[in-house]
Amino acid sequence: AGFKESGDEGRKREQELVNVAKKYGCRIIGPNCLGIIDTYSDLNVSFAPVMPGKGSIAFISQSGALISAVLDWSRKQKIGFSRIISMGNMADVSESELIEACAEDERTKVILFYVEGVKDGKEFINRVSKITTKKPVIAIKAGLTGSGSKAASSHTGSLAGMAEAYSAAFKKTGVLQVAHMEELFDLSLAFAYQPPIKGDRIAIITNAGGPAVIATDAVEKQGLKIAPLSEQTMKTLKENLPPAANTHNPVDVLGDATEQGYKIALDNVMKDNAVDGIVVILTPQTITRPLETAHVVVENANRYKKTVVTSFMGGVSVEVAIDFLRQSRIPNYEFPERAVRALRGMVDYAKIVQREKSQSTVQGIDREKATEIFESVKKSGVKNLTDFQAREIFEAYGVKGPKRYLAKDAMSAVEYANKIGYPVVAKIVSPDILHKTESGGVRINIMDASEMEKAFNDIITSVKNYLPSARIEGIEIQEMVKGIQEIIIGVKKDVQFGHLIMFGLGGIFVEALKDVTFGIVPVDREEASDMIKEIKSYKLLTGFRKLPEADIPSIVDTILRVSKLCEHFPEIKELDINPLIVKSKGNGVTMVDARIILE
Ligand SMILES: Nc1ncnc2c1ncn2[C@@H]1O[C@H](COP(=O)(O)OP(=O)(O)O)[C@@H](O)[C@H]1O
Ligand SMILES: [Mg+2]
Repeated sequence: AGFKESGDEGRKREQELVNVAKKYGCRIIGPNCLGIIDTYSDLNVSFAPVMPGKGSIAFISQSGALISAVLDWSRKQKIGFSRIISMGNMADVSESELIEACAEDERTKVILFYVEGVKDGKEFINRVSKITTKKPVIAIKAGLTGSGSKAASSHTGSLAGMAEAYSAAFKKTGVLQVAHMEELFDLSLAFAYQPPIKGDRIAIITNAGGPAVIATDAVEKQGLKIAPLSEQTMKTLKENLPPAANTHNPVDVLGDATEQGYKIALDNVMKDNAVDGIVVILTPQTITRPLETAHVVVENANRYKKTVVTSFMGGVSVEVAIDFLRQSRIPNYEFPERAVRALRGMVDYAKIVQREKSQSTVQGIDREKATEIFESVKKSGVKNLTDFQAREIFEAYGVKGPKRYLAKDAMSAVEYANKIGYPVVAKIVSPDILHKTESGGVRINIMDASEMEKAFNDIITSVKNYLPSARIEGIEIQEMVKGIQEIIIGVKKDVQFGHLIMFGLGGIFVEALKDVTFGIVPVDREEASDMIKEIKSYKLLTGFRKLPEADIPSIVDTILRVSKLCEHFPEIKELDINPLIVKSKGNGVTMVDARIILE
């Protein structure tokens, strides 16, 4: 302690330290850290009094105190580590370098990362992305709350907090993010002990009905599949297990099974090609033989080299068996849900390894036109572009707007409305009005000339009432766009990771439910398409009840265009297209409202 974290004096002290180190060409981990441990070289340069056991887990932590607690706990749990590193203030060596160092270490199979904040977001993404395809990195980010509690708002600026930025960064980087410390270690054991899982089809073997149901529910909840066993497997099981046994997945060897029953089940289920991962559940009944059963599990796991996790439930009577499982590198979990959650982590990781970077070129971008508009806005000293200007920028980037005209008086409004064809929409155009509806500045569904004239005058009156000082440039007449859903695509520039793109359905979905997802610029086609699938209300876009299927490729395309715009203009601080109206498949999208704020 006594460095950067303690104020200006400390900051100076820390800089001095870095300067001295630089002068002599040495690197510094910390300061304000607990130190480092490397179990295989018997190195313990830390405040930790004891050496943890050897293992395949590297633990990098921004909290030193957490390390001491984890160390103590791990000895009781008999969990081993390859390395333990306390990051401290990262005055010199960054978290990315430490992750790299652990990735290069042959003994390390999985890297755990407790993080409060990274040193350099872009560097983190660039460097750690190269690691995650080779070794799993599991992160827990502390300090996630705070952003979600903000008042309802549909602006990306208020929805995209630090938590969202980190989650998006982890996703882009291929880092598995967990929500709890318990998950962090549950997943790490599976990665440390077991071979990688090849797919998401899970088989459950059990001697009790209830826990199997719990496991089955967990499989579904985690988005995994209950493996459909082959005819051959079920036939053999039927021939060899007692008649009352369930030979479908979950396979129930019944409460009176000894290791013999488990052996038959394991042998057949594990060699079934339709099975990627296995959860073996055991509850201690009168005739159950936990240790012998553990032996059977280990033998089969070694023979078939498929991912196996266990949940030997109970306490005293399964203790020895669990010890044996652990020594034999089978991760055991107190309850089946945790076992399934660990498998889910492995499946997620398999997807990260297989993930393809897609090429994401987009046609029809007029960067010069956008530059011109931005230049003229900057010259006038304004930071907020009007809805009108913002849409011109997006149009230059190939995002289509509605047919529209700017009317200065009621007469020309009617003229334009006739030209567009009814129904039309009328909106206030004023640099002083950010929320047009709130000011009474929007009328939709205008059906004829007389309604048009009335709408024009009404809007002027309401806006003048709402904000007497508002400068009114006119009223925009737009074609009334008919679609399936209104969506929002927004951007906020994050201090660490740069532009964060948000996607969600408009209206109550974003305001009340905050059903939105995030990606980090540059977003590629694959990522954009994942962002769309990740929202909870995704179904509403795929043809739900009477709703036709929405034009999802056009949404993907729009996200890519917004991403390109942000790449080209880093000075964009925030933007929103709200709403982008999505039509049915093949009919595209239309942006009817937009805003851009510059730094
Ligand atoms: N051209 C249009 N076609 C169809 N609906 C529109 C159109 N313009 C606006 N709307 C509807 O009116 C709402 C408010 O208009 P908008 O331009 O987004 O103003 P603001 O968000 O500033 O209040 C939109 O969310 C959308 O539901
Ligand atoms: Mg709007």
